[in-house]
Amino acid sequence: MCGIVGVTGNDNAVSILLEGLQKLEYRGYDSAGIYVNDLHGEDYLVKEKGRIANLTAAVGPEVHGSTGIGHTRWATHGGVSVANAHPQVSEDHRFYLVHNGVIENFKELKAEYLSDVTFTSQTDTEVFVQLVDKFVREENLTTKEAFLKSISLLKKGSSYAFLLIDSNDPDTLYVAKNKSPLLVGLGEGCNVVCSDALAMINVTHEFLELKDGEVVTIKPQSVEIIDQAGNQVDRDSFHVEMDAQDTDKGTYPYYMLKEIDEQPNVMRKLAQTYLLESGKTTVDPALIEDINQADRLYIIGAGTSYHAGLVGKKLFEKLTHIPTEVHVASEFAYEKPLLSEHPFFIFLTQSGETADSREVLVNVNAGDYKSLTITNVQNSTLSREATYTMLLGAGPEISVASTKAYTAQIAVEAILAKAVGMAKEQIVAEEFDLRQQLGLVATGMQAIIDEKDQVEELAKEYFVPATRAFYIGRGIDYFVSLEAALKLKEISYVQAEGFASGELKHGTIALIEENTPVVGIITQDDTASLTRSNLQETLSRGAKVMTIARQGVANADDTIVIADVDELIMPLLSVVPAQLLAYYTSLNKGLDVDRPRNLAKSVTVE
Ligand code: F6R
Repeated sequence: MCGIVGVTGNDNAVSILLEGLQKLEYRGYDSAGIYVNDLHGEDYLVKEKGRIANLTAAVGPEVHGSTGIGHTRWATHGGVSVANAHPQVSEDHRFYLVHNGVIENFKELKAEYLSDVTFTSQTDTEVFVQLVDKFVREENLTTKEAFLKSISLLKKGSSYAFLLIDSNDPDTLYVAKNKSPLLVGLGEGCNVVCSDALAMINVTHEFLELKDGEVVTIKPQSVEIIDQAGNQVDRDSFHVEMDAQDTDKGTYPYYMLKEIDEQPNVMRKLAQTYLLESGKTTVDPALIEDINQADRLYIIGAGTSYHAGLVGKKLFEKLTHIPTEVHVASEFAYEKPLLSEHPFFIFLTQSGETADSREVLVNVNAGDYKSLTITNVQNSTLSREATYTMLLGAGPEISVASTKAYTAQIAVEAILAKAVGMAKEQIVAEEFDLRQQLGLVATGMQAIIDEKDQVEELAKEYFVPATRAFYIGRGIDYFVSLEAALKLKEISYVQAEGFASGELKHGTIALIEENTPVVGIITQDDTASLTRSNLQETLSRGAKVMTIARQGVANADDTIVIADVDELIMPLLSVVPAQLLAYYTSLNKGLDVDRPRNLAKSVTVE
C-alpha cells in the first residue's frame, strides 16, 4: 500500500527511483510518479496512472538528476488520476512531496490556511505541501521550520510518512514518519529513503530505523535525526541480509507460483534454524520463560495471518496447555476483550507493518505487557516494537496472496509451542518429533506441487465456471477452509466461503445450487466421517463436490489425497492444493494473479 523512495547524491537517481518503485510494486498501487533534480537548474516531474512500466515509458531520455523522490499511490483521497498521483507540488513549483498515510484534518487545514491557494488535485497530500510553501513564503520560515510547523498542525495520532524536497536546495531531503513505515539507507556518497529495504537493496544493505514522531534531514553525506522532543538522535545502522535475486521471478509466470513452490524449502530451513538434532530447540530461553509465566496467550493477526493464528491456538493449547485466544487485529484494537491477569501477546504478521496489528501492539506496550512478533521481515515495525521476534525466514513474499508466509507461520508456531511445552515437561510436546515431521511435510508438499497440472484441470472444471464456492471442514480443517476460501476469492473473484461443515445446514446450505463447488477438507480421524456426511448433504442438493483428504482417512474416490503427517500440522499440507486451485483459477480466468484488484500487500492504514 503506497510506497516511498528517495535518493540524494547519486547521478543515477532516475534509475534508482524507478527500480525502487518497481520493487515496491508488490505493495499494491494504482499510479506512480517521480521528481528528479540535477542540481544545475533542471528538474522533472513525471507521473502516470497504472503500472510502473507506464511511468518508465513516460520518462524520456532527457530526464536526469542526482536527487529525487518517487511514489506508488494506492488511492484513498481522490480517485486514480495523474493529478492525484504523487509527487504533489506546491502552487509555485518550489516544493515536491510524496506521502503515505492519511491527513485526517486536511479539510480543516485547507479551510483555515489555504483558502487563497489554487489546488490541482483532490488529495490530502497537496494540502500538506501547500502548507509548507505558505509558511515559507508568508512567515519567512526555513523549509525545515515550515515542515515541522505543518506536521505540528496534523491531528494528533495521525499516521504518516512524508518525504519533501525543496527545489531551491534540492540535495536535501526532509523526512518525517509516524506509524507508517520508512527507513533511511546509507549508501556510498549517497543516501536513500524507502518504505521497505527491498526497494534500495541494490544501493545499500545498511539502514537506519526511524521511530514515530522523528524528523530527519538527509544530505548526500549526512543524516540528522531529531526526536519528538527536538533532541538530536545518534543511531547505529542495521544490516539487512537480502539477496537481490530473492526478489526475481526467474522463469515463473507469477510470483505466487514461485512462492508456493518454495514452501518445501522453507519448511526444511525452519527445521534447520530452530530444531536441533538432539530434540532441543534454538528458541530464546527468555521468550520461553515469559510465555510460561503467562496464564493466557492472545494471538493477533489479520487476514491470512489471523487464519494461521487459529491453527496456532490448537498447537499452543495441545502442546503447552496454556489457554489461547485468537483475535482479528482490527477488532481487538477497539473491542478489547477482558484480559487475564498475566497475558502474553503473539503477533502474526508477514510484513510486520500491518496498521491494524500495530495498533494493538501500541496498546499492549502501553499496558507494559510482553509480546512476540512472528514475522517475515527483519526490523519491521512490529518486530522492533515487540519484546521478542521470531523470523519466518521464508524469503520475500511478493505476491499479494500470502502462501509461504502462512505455512511458515504455522511451522514457527508449532516450533514455539513445542519449545514451551518441553520447558513445561508436557509429554505431548516432548514426544512430538517436529524436526522429522517438518521433513515429512516438505516431502508431502513437494508431492502435491509435482502434481500441479492435475490441480489446474480441477481448477478449470470446478472454479473457473463458478461464481460461488465453499470450502468446508471441522476443527483444524475448518481453519484451513477459511484460508482456502480467502485465497480463492482474493485472486479469482469467485465468492468463496470457508465454513464449519456442521454449521452449513443451519442456513448457508440454502445457497447450494446445481454445480456449486463444495470442497471438503478431511484430515482428522475424529471428524472425517462427519465432514463426509456434511458433503453428502450438499451433494444431494446439486453441489459439485471435491475432497482434499489425508492418506490415513482417504477413500478410493477422494479427489486429492495428501500425505500423512501428524494431525496437528496437517494444515501445512492441506492448504497447498487450495493455494494451487486459487492460483490456476485466477490464471485461467486471465487475471493478474500477483496483483488482484483493490488489494495491497502491506496494509499500512487502519
Ligand atoms: C491474504 C493476505 C492478507 C494478509 C493480511 C495481513 O493473502 O495476504 O490477508 O495476511 O493483510 O498481513 P500481514 O501478515 O503482513 O500482517
